[in-house]
Amino acid sequence: MLNTQHYPQMISPSLMGEWIVIASEQEFVQRQQIKTCLDGQTLTLHRDTINGVHVYQVNFESLDMKELNLSVQAAYGFVWLCIGSEKKPLFQLQEYDVEGARRVPCGAYGVRTSPLRGIENFLDMAHFPYVHTGILGAEPETTVKPYKVEWREDVDEIWATECFFTQPLAAPSSPQPQETEYVYRVASPLNAILYKVNTAAEGIIPADVVCLFIQPLSETHIRAHLLMILDDQTSSMTDMVLFQQKIFTQDKPILENHVPLKLPLEKLEIPTKADALATAYRKWLITKNWCYGVHKNTQEEQVV
Ligand SMILES: [Fe+2]
Repeated sequence: MLNTQHYPQMISPSLMGEWIVIASEQEFVQRQQIKTCLDGQTLTLHRDTINGVHVYQVNFESLDMKELNLSVQAAYGFVWLCIGSEKKPLFQLQEYDVEGARRVPCGAYGVRTSPLRGIENFLDMAHFPYVHTGILGAEPETTVKPYKVEWREDVDEIWATECFFTQPLAAPSSPQPQETEYVYRVASPLNAILYKVNTAAEGIIPADVVCLFIQPLSETHIRAHLLMILDDQTSSMTDMVLFQQKIFTQDKPILENHVPLKLPLEKLEIPTKADALATAYRKWLITKNWCYGVHKNTQEEQVV
């Protein structure tokens, strides 16, 4: 077990015990080693192949590696790091292993925002008509209909179900506008998954899946890793990636212009009914005493 008192300047206590994405396995095409960052700490990630299996090793440049209890695993096309004892195992993503499902890694986006803002924006349907106009929403269909939110205690996840939204172009292969059913799943504070129930065309998987995995470079700078698992047998890989890239590049400037950049967990922003999921997410973070990427009313925001 890591004794944080010895390392007041190192990884935030909120990040300890979490499975955190640090790279996509795609980054290892034609190279064995990459350099990246977690909470301001530079790390080297090295890949060996032993008996056909990829094995990853992490080395932090400025931390005492002998004192760190690190676990690394590859899953869902990404490399995950846990510092200290895991709070719970890495979440399950069953659709990833279904034969015939299209696995579409969509790259990583550097965004100047809080990791929590990144997740919260992903959970928000109300911005579809205004930010993703003509794709995920369009005026005058701007109302977020009531939906259900629950904390699933056995897996410690937040789920929102029965979310319906009328969308002009719900998926790359959508032939016409449709009412799309969403299920949102917050699998851990920095990992969220969205299921689009009725865009899965072929019935190979029950829903198309869009995943957002946040790599916290700092409290106000993230790499947002995107993965889709689609039941789409016709679109080209390029078209599927471009669809998601287009959506995310619409989100990026919105995220970078939030004031404050960090997420207030208390009463600074007044929630509406449409924000029931975001409100549950914030309350959940409060129960965890989560402090990373959180705006405190009294502080001047430091942008790193
Ligand atoms: Fe968005």
